[in-house]
Amino acid sequence: MKVLIVYASKYGSTGGVAEAIGEALRERGHGAEAHEAASAPAPGGFDAAVVGSGVYVGSWLKPASRYLEAHAAALSERPVWLFGVGPLGAENPQPAGEPEQAGKLVDSVGARAYVTLTGALDRGRLGLADRLIARAVKAPDGDFRDWAAIRAWAHGIADALDAGAAGATAPAAPAERVRA
Ligand SMILES: Cc1cc2nc3c(=O)[nH]c(=O)nc-3n(C[C@H](O)[C@H](O)[C@H](O)COP(=O)(O)O)c2cc1C
Repeated sequence: MKVLIVYASKYGSTGGVAEAIGEALRERGHGAEAHEAASAPAPGGFDAAVVGSGVYVGSWLKPASRYLEAHAAALSERPVWLFGVGPLGAENPQPAGEPEQAGKLVDSVGARAYVTLTGALDRGRLGLADRLIARAVKAPDGDFRDWAAIRAWAHGIADALDAGAAGATAPAAPAERVRA
């Protein structure tokens, strides 16, 4: 199946997550391409979509939430999975580990699931305002992305796509919200 992966990233770590999801889906025989939300194609030519964003002060970055809004109708017609990249390590000293808006985002496109994935922070690369916020919340420096968890989540998507292609009927269930 053709899967569109759309992401918004300020400092690149979410882009790396999106690429890893694409790689895992391609390993499973699906066509998958990752695009930055600001310049991503419409979902029309794809069988499924995965949309995610770096999380900043509890919210998705604008280009990702705008993409969901702009393409809500087309996204609602195909299977969609959402992910937020944010918490820095197990202790998660960030103001909000999971955006308040996650439920609304899921509802807006009838997403199958929303997952929160750990992120990365390189203080030396932050703009001044971001550096001040990071210092105020004592955000730790480091790359906390959990590649095994990212791959496992992507393989779950591949499983669902394979089951769908085989004609299996998924039980109607509320969107799953997990922290990987
Ligand atoms: C100013 C600032 C605010 C942040 N706010 C949150 C937050 O509210 N919740 C969270 O889980 N992570 C938060 N983080 C951590 C980022 O989401 C994390 O660094 C993420 O990997 C960034 O993605 P990007 O590199 O794709 O931009 C924040 C980071 C910065 C610099």
